Formats: sequence, C-alpha cells, structure tokens
Amino acid sequence: MTEPLSPVPARGLPLSARAPGKCIVFGEHAVVHGAPELAFAIDLYTQVLVRSAETTRLNADAEATAQNPYFRSALERAWSGGPPIDVRAVSRIPRAAGLGSSAAFAAALAAAFGAARGGVDRATLAQQAFEIERGAQGVGSAGDTSTSVAGGFVAINGGGAEPLWTVRAPDQTWKVTRVADPGWVWVVAHSGVPRSTGDAVRAVGERLRKPDGPSLLAEFTRVAGDGIRAVAQGDRATVAELIRRNQELLREVGVSHPRLEELIRAAEPAAEASKLTGAGAGGSIVALPIPGKEAELVRRLARAGALPFVVRPAPDGAALV
Ligand code: PMV
Repeated sequence: MTEPLSPVPARGLPLSARAPGKCIVFGEHAVVHGAPELAFAIDLYTQVLVRSAETTRLNADAEATAQNPYFRSALERAWSGGPPIDVRAVSRIPRAAGLGSSAAFAAALAAAFGAARGGVDRATLAQQAFEIERGAQGVGSAGDTSTSVAGGFVAINGGGAEPLWTVRAPDQTWKVTRVADPGWVWVVAHSGVPRSTGDAVRAVGERLRKPDGPSLLAEFTRVAGDGIRAVAQGDRATVAELIRRNQELLREVGVSHPRLEELIRAAEPAAEASKLTGAGAGGSIVALPIPGKEAELVRRLARAGALPFVVRPAPDGAALV
C-alpha cells in the first residue's frame, strides 16, 4: 500500500518553498505519448521566497510577468486574482540541461502559492505544476513536474503500486506511482550544449508519426516497463542493458548529439551503462558507475569536457522551507 504524501500546509506571506530537479532513467520523450517513464528527484533544488509587494516582480524584475513564460504561467494558473507579490528565485539546477529546472520552478511556485491560499494536497499540486509547465512550454508530459512534487523514485504510466495520483491533459493522462530507491550511486554529466525542450519534443513527435513510429513507441514502452521492474528488484545487470537499449532508441528518434555520444564513450571503462537524460539534443547524460569506479567515472567525464556530478536521489518533493 502506497502511503499518501503529506499535503503542503497553509502559511501566510512571506514564505519560502523549494522543489528538486530530476533525472530520467528510462522513457523520456516516449512518456509525452503515454509510454512509461522512470525518474528520480535529485538533491539540487530551486527555492522561491514570496513576499507581499506593491508590484509583482521576479528577482527584482518587474518585466518578468511579461517576459518569463513560466512565471507568467504560474501567476495565471495558481495566483490569479491574488495581490502583487515579490518573488526571489534561486536555483542550483543547471538550466536547459535536462535536469528539470523548469519543472522545479513550476513546482516550487505552485507549492508556495498553494500554501498562501490555504494549503494544497499533492495531487492538486502535481496537476497545477504540470499545467504551469505545459502552459509555458506548449508541449510535454507530467513526468518532470510529478517527480519534483513527489520526490524519490517514481514511475509514470508503469509500476505495479497503487497510484499516488493521476495527472490529466486534454490529450493524455499520466498515472504516477512510487518505486523504491535501489540505493545506487548515479553520475550525471552536463555537456554544456544548450537546447530547447519544446523543440526536441516536437521533433520526436514528428519522427513518431512516420510509419515505424508505433513500433518504436512499443519498444520504448517495453524498455521502460522492464526497466521499472528491474530497478524495483535492484537488478543492476538488467538495468544496465536496458539503459543501453534506451539510448539506441533515443539515437534512432534523433535526440542524441555528437557531444553526448562522446561522453557516453568516455564513460564506458568506468560505467555499467549510460544514456542521455531529459530532452537530449544537448543537455546531460546519466551513468550507472561500476561500483568502486565512481571517482574514476567523474574524472573521465571531466576530462572529456563535461561538468560531471554525483547525484543523490532526494527522498522529499516540493515543500515549504
Ligand atoms: O530536458 P528536460 O528536463 O526538460 O526533460 C524533458 C523530458 C521529456 O520527456 C523530453 C519531455 C517531457 O515533458 O516529459
């Protein structure tokens, strides 16, 4: 039986909330089309401080409501009719890196606004954070925002446990379930190549409309479904094999990048497997280190010109601080 996650309680302004970034192990892109995904929240956070003010600003910028689509979307969807507010946001999640910086911003704002409006349960928070991100980005799944709201390891549209919640969009639904953390060390490496999630998602959508699209989506579904089971059972050898297969599929749908392929090769002697994580076309890779070779893996990736870091799964999702 899955324990319901605690709601975000009511709190008056000023208040502060934070939400973690995420790392996708299996199923990015395919999840947009309803296939399963496995992701975990990482111990890098976006924190927002919300105070009453005379005009609404983000980091002292009064133009942000017009210019920052995520901030505008959050105000429209979770603060409409509310008084002017001053929001300070700080983030340790690299931007446009595939690590969920926009989802964490959406989840932290939704948690803060929900608290200021009398508290909010997790299912509502997950739905709102998704709608904020979708409103700003135009495309995308509920995977990133739900992982940021739930914390820990989660399966989207897979996994046998009772769902934590279901997020609904006009074109798709995503059932979110808890998966136990197998307790492994993961290494992420940021290539430094920026890209747009929206552009990558649209390009994959086009690719999946070709005649072999349905069979590719079926293979993404098999890999992520088997991957969720293998992680839940702590079966590293199977997880490694499926990570390699998932990367082949991502390459096939056109979201790998020469720099990502170089990093995957550089990781090989010290990693059981690695793949891109997030939207790809730049951004980051995630690697499962050979036990005892974590430091060597980080060194190899740094020498290959990436920004590597060991990520620890963050057990808790969006919360007041
Ligand atoms: O690169 P990120 O952190 O924006 O992750 C995108 C994950 C996708 O599956 C490609 C899109 C989505 O909304 O699920």
